[in-house]
Amino acid sequence: MTASAAHSAAEGPTPTPPDDPIAAAEDRSMITVQQHIFEQQRHHFPAATGEFSWLLSGITLATKRVQAKVRRAGLTNLLGTEGEVNVQGEVQQKLDVYANDVLIQALSSRDCVGVLASEENDHPMAVARNQMNAKYAVVFDPLDGSSNIDVNVSVGTIFSILRLPGHSHGGDRTDDLLQHGYRQVAAGYVCYGSSTILVYTAGMGVHGFTLDPSIGAFVLSHENMTMPERGKYYSVNEAYRDSFPPEYRTYLDRLRTGKFGDPYGLRYIGSLVADFHRTLLKGGIFLYPPTSSHPEGKLRLLYEANPIAFIAEQAGGMASAGSERVLDIKPTSIHQRTALIVGSKSEMDEFERCINGRG
Ligand code: AHG
Ligand code: MN
Ligand code: MN
Repeated sequence: MTASAAHSAAEGPTPTPPDDPIAAAEDRSMITVQQHIFEQQRHHFPAATGEFSWLLSGITLATKRVQAKVRRAGLTNLLGTEGEVNVQGEVQQKLDVYANDVLIQALSSRDCVGVLASEENDHPMAVARNQMNAKYAVVFDPLDGSSNIDVNVSVGTIFSILRLPGHSHGGDRTDDLLQHGYRQVAAGYVCYGSSTILVYTAGMGVHGFTLDPSIGAFVLSHENMTMPERGKYYSVNEAYRDSFPPEYRTYLDRLRTGKFGDPYGLRYIGSLVADFHRTLLKGGIFLYPPTSSHPEGKLRLLYEANPIAFIAEQAGGMASAGSERVLDIKPTSIHQRTALIVGSKSEMDEFERCINGRG
């Protein structure tokens, strides 16, 4: 008999120390992402039909499948490239293709989804059977940071949900997707890191749910997330520094040399989802400026910058494309790229002063 079994037999169950945080967390009643959305809708939109929750359940199902594959990728011949180049001119990884297929499959079975657009596909996809009544379009980056996958570094999925115009004419749906970012209905990401976390906003704050692998559910772990007013790190691929516009170089110098208080440290993972997730939790600033090889910036407006900007603003931060607010950009093509500077209010105010030559 083990020591603890002996204890149970003699004295009943082992008492839980009152200050044991793990036991306390497990005792707390669990709120799943579905439950949370349902309760938020009941509170804010009592007339809601539940379609939106059903749509989000497509995203949680697909991302659970993706995370399961990511966790086993080294065992299942899923590392490495697919041998194809996507519309962005980037080499597709096998997991890019898998994640894309799984999201398309899960979302096209939701009646309320009429159009899908992915970083990995040249054109928007109309979901044929839903053309008459569908209310929503979903645009997504199925696997963000996928060049990191072979080396066991965090990757993610990013999504944005748009309302479709009521008068859809069928045919090419590109115009239906070229909406300002401020019109997003909801946006979120899933970060496949040391744990899997889903962060989303539907315009009523930002909420985070950690996947509990023992029960297969995303459980509320971070309610009403707010970005700290200021942080300690900046995040940028500084190897491109010489090709950044001069005002960006000035700003980075000021961060590094302590012109805004203590000198900043640098953190750069190379997966936007992971770099942003740290910035959301710890504050600071992430920058992907224009460079000589990507004069418009590298990140994609619809799949990356807009959803991240929506989340940042909802959490009390800010997001800029250099000369304007990201969410105010009117897209002209679905794969459009943009510069992205996103972070805490203090760092963003200083950035804007610097970029406008005011300090
Ligand atoms: P994706 O894997 O979806 O193409 O995105 C990669 C992006 C983004 O996650 C990251 O912030 C950026 O590329 C890194 O680019 P650099 O290697 O140029 O720094
Ligand atoms: Mn990406
Ligand atoms: Mn991607």
